[in-house]
Amino acid sequence: MEIINKIREHQEKEKQLEWRGTFKEYLELVKKHPHIAQHSHSRVYNMIKDAGVLEKDNQKMYRFFGEDIYGLEEPLEKLVEEYFHSAARRLDVKKRILMLMGPVSGGKSTIVTMLKRGLEEYSRTDAGAVYAIEGCPMQEDPLHLIPPHLRDEFYDEYGIHIEGRLSPLNMMRLEKEYGGNIEDVMVERIFFSEDKRVGIGTFSPSDPKSQDIADLTGSIDFSTIAEYGSESDPRAYRFDGELNKANRGIMEFQEMLKCDEKFLWHLLSLSEEGNFKAGRFALISADELIVAHTNEAEYQAFINNKKNEALHSRIIVMNIPYNLKVSEEERIYEKMIAGSDMADVHIAPHALRTAAIFSILTRLKVPKNQTVDLVKKMKLYDGEELEGFKDQDVEELKKEYQDEGMDGIDPRYVINRISSAIIRKDVESINALDVLRSLKEGLDQHASISDEDKERYLDFIAAARKEYDEAAKKEVQKAFVYSYEESAKTLMDNYLDNVEAYCNKNKLKDPLTGEEMSPDEKLMRSIEEQIGISENAKRAFREEILIRISAYARKGKKFDYNSHEHLREAIQQKLFADLKDVVKITTSTKTPDESQLKKINEVTARLIDEHGYNSVSANELLRYVGSLLNR
Ligand SMILES: Nc1ncnc2c1ncn2[C@@H]1O[C@H](COP(=O)(O)OP(=O)(O)OP(=O)(O)O)[C@@H](O)[C@H]1O
Ligand SMILES: [Mg+2]
Repeated sequence: MEIINKIREHQEKEKQLEWRGTFKEYLELVKKHPHIAQHSHSRVYNMIKDAGVLEKDNQKMYRFFGEDIYGLEEPLEKLVEEYFHSAARRLDVKKRILMLMGPVSGGKSTIVTMLKRGLEEYSRTDAGAVYAIEGCPMQEDPLHLIPPHLRDEFYDEYGIHIEGRLSPLNMMRLEKEYGGNIEDVMVERIFFSEDKRVGIGTFSPSDPKSQDIADLTGSIDFSTIAEYGSESDPRAYRFDGELNKANRGIMEFQEMLKCDEKFLWHLLSLSEEGNFKAGRFALISADELIVAHTNEAEYQAFINNKKNEALHSRIIVMNIPYNLKVSEEERIYEKMIAGSDMADVHIAPHALRTAAIFSILTRLKVPKNQTVDLVKKMKLYDGEELEGFKDQDVEELKKEYQDEGMDGIDPRYVINRISSAIIRKDVESINALDVLRSLKEGLDQHASISDEDKERYLDFIAAARKEYDEAAKKEVQKAFVYSYEESAKTLMDNYLDNVEAYCNKNKLKDPLTGEEMSPDEKLMRSIEEQIGISENAKRAFREEILIRISAYARKGKKFDYNSHEHLREAIQQKLFADLKDVVKITTSTKTPDESQLKKINEVTARLIDEHGYNSVSANELLRYVGSLLNR
């Protein structure tokens, strides 16, 4: 019954939000809370702002988009500041249609959906509350009731600009229902809802021959003409087109440029004058954010057509490129998988990252600065610190191209390839190599990839694999070394004893026989060689360590395994080199002996417990790294 209670609670809450009163009462409300009279663009901007804005390194990040859109901080800042913010301040951009332009499945629809869902919620908050003339199919702004000649005075008193004229329908209702008494007109609080067609509309073109302009602007209701006597009686008209329904909120124009021209002309006057023509009525005022989306090719074709000039100048284009950061791309895949039927499949660590590396490489442009190769650029973009590069270099790289990220591999393609790899493998576990193989095979079927691009893409697959090989080796090394922390410490102590004897020209005592022995040169060198200490440099290195030990001793601190980073690395690598044989065994036909088996099992357990593998993928990883080491 939990859920029934929740539903009840929700209904209760919705009830509490309701408000209805006369226009006179509404004006008192406006006086107290002027923001309830804001126009649609301003409401959208405030919704985004109210959700919270973080600023990091001069880059604004909007919490509003953060949950679903990753890695697009820069384009989103431009969108919010240059369009929404300016429009909110009643600047001219408010009169323009917002056009999101970007490559396929780059997040355009996601952004629009977030705005729509966001407005639905926002209209249920105090800050985002909206009111309308009661019973109006276009939820008309009550302030339209104020006659135009009094609006300057209204502004002086309330500080609010009123745009738009009372619609023919409400003009008539005012006369017939309220006997012309404006102050008696009933006003209600409304709540945006796409399902109920309040304040949110979506138009998508279908067959131009059968599609009717009524979808956009409503139509005559022939069944009521007899009742009202004439086609030009607004009560005989159904104001149920998308432009009507989206009034006060947002209207999404899908595939706008595929639309028949006659539909677009309505947008011309709506965007510029804030009104549109419906039926036989005077112009109808509307206040709504119109947002459309398109890809670059379609947009180019559109502006190359002279006929579209008028419309073109009423559009503000905002680029929505692909994300260019590997880590963010990985998150995009995680999100898409979580929301798909693959959510239960085990995806081995590095699988998505490797795919992301490939995708980002296809999207980046080759740096003009020749000292940076594409893989380095990719890492720098992702915030990795590379030796010899500063933050400023990254900025320079970004400035080289204005239109980066407008082509390349799209996230949906990657998800589709992962899905087909899962189907083929028939195991509920998938690793980086499975994904790379599937991405590669898919290139042949990808309709929009030219032969030239294909060549490049194959190189990127190889590059992604190289990155994966390194990561896989490191992962196994880490797991091995961890299981041998004890061995590492023993090896370290052993090394230090020898170094001490060497520097002090002492002998060591065999712990068992008590016999005196010289320092074990072979052991010391085998460790030092791991980090490239040459024969000539060995004395200096050993002395430095000894000095460090005595410095520690003076401070009463114990010099241990973690005290000298360079040395620790050497010990780990030496240990791993010794263990390589164990790894190799897993790939050879030889059966491991008992102690080797024990080691392998320990490492597998560690990979599973600490690194996110399952038994299938852990074994696959060990076998693969074994084969790499055998090369
Ligand atoms: N930068 C991003 N952050 C988060 N998710 C993203 C991003 N880019 C794409 N996606 C995801 O990719 C999928 C496709 O995105 P969406 O449908 O929004 O793209 P689109 O630009 O509208 O594509 P199309 O041109 O094909 O209509 C969605 O699941 C979306 O969440
Ligand atoms: Mg889309």
